[in-house]
Amino acid sequence: MTVLALETSCDETAVAILRGRDGRSGPKLLASEVASQVAAHEKYGGIVPEIASRNHLLFAPQLLDRTKSVAKINLSDVDAFAATSGPGLASSLMVGASIAKGLAIGFGKPYLAINHLEGHLLSPFFSDADGEAGIRPNVSLIVSGGHTMLVRVHALCDYQVIGRTVDDAAGEAFDKVAKMLGLAYPGGPEIEKLARDGDPNRFDLPRSMPGSENFSFSGLKTAVRYLLPKVVGRFCETPGEEERLTQTPYKLDDRVLADLCASFQQAIIDVLVTKTIAAAQKYNVDLVTVSGGVSCNEELRRQLHEACSRNGFEFKNAEPWLCTDNAAMIAFAAYLRLQVGFQSQVTEEINPNLALVS
Ligand code: KG4
Ligand code: ZN
Repeated sequence: MTVLALETSCDETAVAILRGRDGRSGPKLLASEVASQVAAHEKYGGIVPEIASRNHLLFAPQLLDRTKSVAKINLSDVDAFAATSGPGLASSLMVGASIAKGLAIGFGKPYLAINHLEGHLLSPFFSDADGEAGIRPNVSLIVSGGHTMLVRVHALCDYQVIGRTVDDAAGEAFDKVAKMLGLAYPGGPEIEKLARDGDPNRFDLPRSMPGSENFSFSGLKTAVRYLLPKVVGRFCETPGEEERLTQTPYKLDDRVLADLCASFQQAIIDVLVTKTIAAAQKYNVDLVTVSGGVSCNEELRRQLHEACSRNGFEFKNAEPWLCTDNAAMIAFAAYLRLQVGFQSQVTEEINPNLALVS
């Protein structure tokens, strides 16, 4: 069983080919290619949907060619074609879904519309030696640029959303605070790098919505916004420079910048870890999983792993290359769904607001 998947929900164009191994062990990834558009959107300070969809149209055929040649297969060898059908940007989703549908129609093979969030959710199981039967009940934290969610996973295709962000996603907060600090996009990796040398206890930042299963990060972002002029005034007192320094993005002393990044990152980690462990205890699961772009953050992985060990939970994270958007996770979700007889109609529309559970 060979599956080809496209992922074009936002600003990454990705194609992957996965082949099942007849129930012996998990499927084998034959090829996975991602074309980043970060450089194309950087100068606008955010993603421009029309540029994203034009680039998907440009990159997708090139990536299809490359994955085919890396996997050493012809398109006629593929047993099913899949694409992300939501959530995401409508004009971006349309590109990947249209290509996958066209290939499915052309080769007379099944088409599978896959939820991007399910791709993230299942990605911690990707590398399991016994991947075929490996989706066990767990509490899953999905943390990305667009989503922050706690999901109770009963089995494949059987999910219950326990909590979600009521405003910004965790990755969005990383990106927005990084922008205030004059750091490059995406901001998460930049903040993580600077935080390594910083003191996470230097600045007292809020941990929002304690006791709730939902998340809120916009208050934390605003707290950093209000803190900035104060720390600039207090720590960067070069005469005549204060006015320039209080313009955004702020230019901070290296030590202040590192301490601020570490304090901000720790505020996010505290909230994610506390709520995930509380949910795992409440729903009495053995396993905690984490996925999505923010789960690339080593400090988050370390602290979540430690908290799981302390509380008797097994911990599984998606490998770093599977955390940010990619098509391997979409191919994997499609592959698992095919095993249980799932198929989509080629008339199924993309849905920018697609929920994980309908
Ligand atoms: O999963 P993803 O590629 O796209 C969405 O589905 O949103 O996640 C991208 C997000 C960005 O906000 C980025 O800043 C964040 O993941 N991110 C990180 C790290 N690497 C990526 N956040 C914190 N620490 C990181 N190392
Ligand atoms: Zn994503």
